[in-house]
Amino acid sequence: MNFELPSLSRRDFITKSTLGAGLVLGAPSVLKAKEAGAPADDIRVGFIGCGKQHEVIFNAMVNIPGVRYVAACDIMEGRRKATFNRIGSKFRYKINQYVSAEEMLAKEDLDAVFVATPDFWHAPHTVMALEAGCHVYCEKMMSHTIEGARSMVAAMDRTGKLCQIGHQRRSNPRYRYVLDELIHKENICGQIININGQWNRALSSSQDIVSKPSLLPEAEILREYGFNNGADHTLSLDELRHRFLNWRFYTDLSGGPISDLGAHQIDIFNWFMGSQPKSVMASGGRSFFKDREHFDNVMCIFDYDTPQGNARAFYQVLTTTSAGGGYYESFMGTEGTIEISEREAYTNIYKESGAENDKWDKLVQRGLLKKEAVGVAAGGSDAIASYASAPPDKYALPGVITKAPHTPHIENFLSTIRGEATLTCDARHALESEAPIYWVNPAANNNQIINFTEEHLGA
Ligand SMILES: NC(=O)c1ccc[n+]([C@@H]2O[C@H](COP(=O)([O-])OP(=O)(O)OC[C@H]3O[C@@H](n4cnc5c(N)ncnc54)[C@H](O)[C@@H]3O)[C@@H](O)[C@H]2O)c1
Repeated sequence: MNFELPSLSRRDFITKSTLGAGLVLGAPSVLKAKEAGAPADDIRVGFIGCGKQHEVIFNAMVNIPGVRYVAACDIMEGRRKATFNRIGSKFRYKINQYVSAEEMLAKEDLDAVFVATPDFWHAPHTVMALEAGCHVYCEKMMSHTIEGARSMVAAMDRTGKLCQIGHQRRSNPRYRYVLDELIHKENICGQIININGQWNRALSSSQDIVSKPSLLPEAEILREYGFNNGADHTLSLDELRHRFLNWRFYTDLSGGPISDLGAHQIDIFNWFMGSQPKSVMASGGRSFFKDREHFDNVMCIFDYDTPQGNARAFYQVLTTTSAGGGYYESFMGTEGTIEISEREAYTNIYKESGAENDKWDKLVQRGLLKKEAVGVAAGGSDAIASYASAPPDKYALPGVITKAPHTPHIENFLSTIRGEATLTCDARHALESEAPIYWVNPAANNNQIINFTEEHLGA
């Protein structure tokens, strides 16, 4: 079985895209009029934020046809130029460069904008791009505050433009296959009662980011673009630059590890469970990075009531140890467990010893699963048979993905602009899923169980 998504057909973009003029989210939309010489059906793209993730996005979309790169904006000159050069050497044309997103949006005729700035800039950039008539692909987390995320949903509704949030697993064929075919259609887990997820990151990958001072913006620019601390204009140039490079460590610029890394797995918890949790309890520590404003390690438990019954999800994000299997989400049921990750190597499926053999054999015969190994009990003189459950058999998914992890999500965004698809993660669905995450730090800070109400989770 192949997990490739069908490739985009460019034949009838224009016909299809004009059909849905003026419709709202997920509906077809009209591309703007083009300058002479440019293919009429090209989507005109601008970038806001040209740092590390922008490079990942660009590399993931560079071979998607029907895109014309028009402009890029970044407050750091070297990053703007790198994007200018990257596009120039690949496509042999020049893009326009801007420091100010507002100016870029006012001067350029863009269909779509990709926002990959630090989290505290997502809401302002997304709202201004939607208001300027562009469709927006904005990186996760939607914002560092739930109010920011809500303002993005409101702007999407108000403008009728598309707003895709960068939870790229939502378009990943492997995740979609597991949810649609294995969980929904075949119910291979039985009742899912526990969910377990983590992002364990090594200490060596969690150090401060440093850069040559000559490459970095001056104090004036950093203050103008919000890297001072609110009204505090006393920060030194070094302090401003530290905040600029390491925005993830500061509470007014980011939600910290639970939002930066946890957003990926907790989004999958909520998407797969098809509901928001009813409460969260959490604990966090500045156990190693004592000077950082955010916790360096967080553990939390969400409680769900779903049509299948009650379930709990445990999540941990570590920035001091990578052992323990990297990053994944594990859905643990009475008949089977699906351990899934963006990394194929961390994806495993297990059949409980008591589950119906016949059902699983048929799934293998139908090509829906591959059997990898029969469970073998660990030996050793300390084994006491009556204590140990029979080990589960191990299975694997039948196909591989050949695309970069972000490519299907960007393809989904571009196809939706052309009226050929529906967004897999529009801002409203993203907020439903992200809302519980905004409450993990407060729960940990106050040693409190937060029972969610509409006020906590609503749009
Ligand atoms: N989906 C994923 O898998 C994934 C992975 C990594 C990062 N991300 C997200 O991507 C976003 C960017 O992360 P990153 O690692 O690239 O950060 P980064 O610091 O490397 O890049 C951010 C860029 O934005 C620029 N910038 C800052 N403020 C600006 C402003 N007001 N106007 C224009 N440019 C501005 C900076 O100069 C920098 O080049 C974050 O929201 C992050 O959570 C997503």
